[in-house]
Amino acid sequence: MTQYNRRQFIKQGSQATLAAGVGMSILPNIASAEIVNTYAQQPLPYAYNALEPYIDATTMDIHYNKHAAAYAKNLAEACAAENVNTQTVSLDNLMQSIGKYSAKMRNNGGGHFNHEFFWKCMKPGSTGGPNGKLLTAIQQSFGSVDGFKTKFADAAKSRFGSGWAWLVQTPNGQLVCGSTPNQDNPLMDISELKGKPLLGLDVWEHAYYLKYQNKRPDYITNWFNLVDWNFVATQFVS
Ligand SMILES: [Fe+2]
Repeated sequence: MTQYNRRQFIKQGSQATLAAGVGMSILPNIASAEIVNTYAQQPLPYAYNALEPYIDATTMDIHYNKHAAAYAKNLAEACAAENVNTQTVSLDNLMQSIGKYSAKMRNNGGGHFNHEFFWKCMKPGSTGGPNGKLLTAIQQSFGSVDGFKTKFADAAKSRFGSGWAWLVQTPNGQLVCGSTPNQDNPLMDISELKGKPLLGLDVWEHAYYLKYQNKRPDYITNWFNLVDWNFVATQFVS
């Protein structure tokens, strides 16, 4: 992250805090625009069976080709119906103003963004753990990497029903773990948890039920083996 971007982040964070008082978006426009900002479903960056034994090939196939594909398709329909110009309105910006659109836009816009982000949060084989400035930030916020994992897992386990667990960077630079219901995400103006997503975990049953049935905690524990910490680092603004 360049000095300029760092300053912009801090400045935008300050603006965001200020804006909150006057009812504007409190989110800085520093979302993962370079990484996840397309309305079209992107190719899965690995084979369906690449995440085994933690996530099975059938789950990945159905998850990507049925669930995630449907979100992208339905988002396109909602954009057409509600006059969202996908050439000029970024996906990030759509998330940040989602409150003024329909439930279809909210559910499928969030669903599309979240899944595109989720695929990139995982990678076959271990990437070790966080390092450098990200590691320092995690240690400062959670005491240790294990402390972070406990907080994140608690957020994932305690999300009632369907939803997502997140590690986010708030506009003031703090790292926070939390969760969102359904297909909401921390970029959305209507979300209680707000910030820049660094890592997200799908805890809808469609993400794990074939292999884990009702044992969501086992899915969460195993999933940490798949986290692409290099991707997380690209999302972190130091
Ligand atoms: Fe999902």
